[in-house]
Amino acid sequence: MATPRILSGIKPTGQLHIGNYFGMMRPAIDWQERGEAYYFIADYHALTSVHDPQAIREYSRGVALDFLACGLDPAKAVLFRQSDVPQVTELTWILSCVAPMPMLENCHAYKDHLARKQEEPALHGLFAYPVLMAADILLYDSNIVPVGRDQKQHVEVTRDLAEKMNRIFGKILIVPEASIRAEVETIPGLDGRKMSKSYGNTAPLFDEEKSLKKKIMGIVTDSTPVEAPKDPASSSIVQLYRLFASPAEVAVMEEQFRGGGVGYGDFKKRLFGAIWDYFAPMRTRRAELESDGGYVNRVLREGAERAGAVAEKTMARVRSAVGLR
Ligand code: TYM
Repeated sequence: MATPRILSGIKPTGQLHIGNYFGMMRPAIDWQERGEAYYFIADYHALTSVHDPQAIREYSRGVALDFLACGLDPAKAVLFRQSDVPQVTELTWILSCVAPMPMLENCHAYKDHLARKQEEPALHGLFAYPVLMAADILLYDSNIVPVGRDQKQHVEVTRDLAEKMNRIFGKILIVPEASIRAEVETIPGLDGRKMSKSYGNTAPLFDEEKSLKKKIMGIVTDSTPVEAPKDPASSSIVQLYRLFASPAEVAVMEEQFRGGGVGYGDFKKRLFGAIWDYFAPMRTRRAELESDGGYVNRVLREGAERAGAVAEKTMARVRSAVGLR
């Protein structure tokens, strides 16, 4: 592979959190040095769960600011809003016409919805979500898709759809690969389950100090008393601390877990301090970017143009292959 094309997206459904950061944003920012990177704000996807126009706009702007503050460089990576390149919905339809129902019925977001036996019926958008995601990836001829573990199934669906299209219509689509970093594939949340906006168990990247501290101090622990030894291997405090502290600092915490005599509250305070310090330069950068009123819009406008040009090329090829032109 000469220069790989890298692509990934984030849904603007709330504040981004440290699961998003380590699972996807950090790897994506590293990839911008090694290929042609395209990263987008998945606002069409957000419509499956957010039906408040003002919120979609605010969260979208927030995602762009967060990503830029964390190190996405618009000179190296193309940052754009998914809906600024509406060809993706056209490709979604074409892929839908080869996408088997059972494959989509097996996808986890839809299955989870059914399993929770909610009163609200599943929406078609939720069911069709993986096809839109496949269109995102295939529209930009992507080779590599950096994501957290929870998106692996969606990249597999994308591969299946690309292969099927290629079998039927000739080799028109690139078959992509997920890139998942094993050590950060699933960052735990405050309650020990996967950190996720939909579980309400997140530590946001750019929270207020007091609010973040309260969340970290609220990490769920067992009732082992202060004096008693504790198991570092099963503690999400240690798992999270490892993301922010040096190996020597982690070793000290692990030792103190095993030795007893230090309470969970102390460990949580140390974790909070490490998180707060880690994101200090990003907080400063974010405030700077935010004070330049037009910056985000300029980046997104330029991103939309660059992404749109690639998308149009792919669509011309696909339309012609399937018989639409
Ligand atoms: P989203 O917005 O839920 O999450 C964005 C990225 O963050 C990763 N992530 C995590 N990684 C590790 N541990 C966690 N606790 C954690 N929580 C979230 C996710 O795996 C993801 O990589 N469907 C996608 C958005 C999307 C997309 C795409 C991604 C739409 N089209 C095309 C790649 C390619 C989503 O909802 O991500």
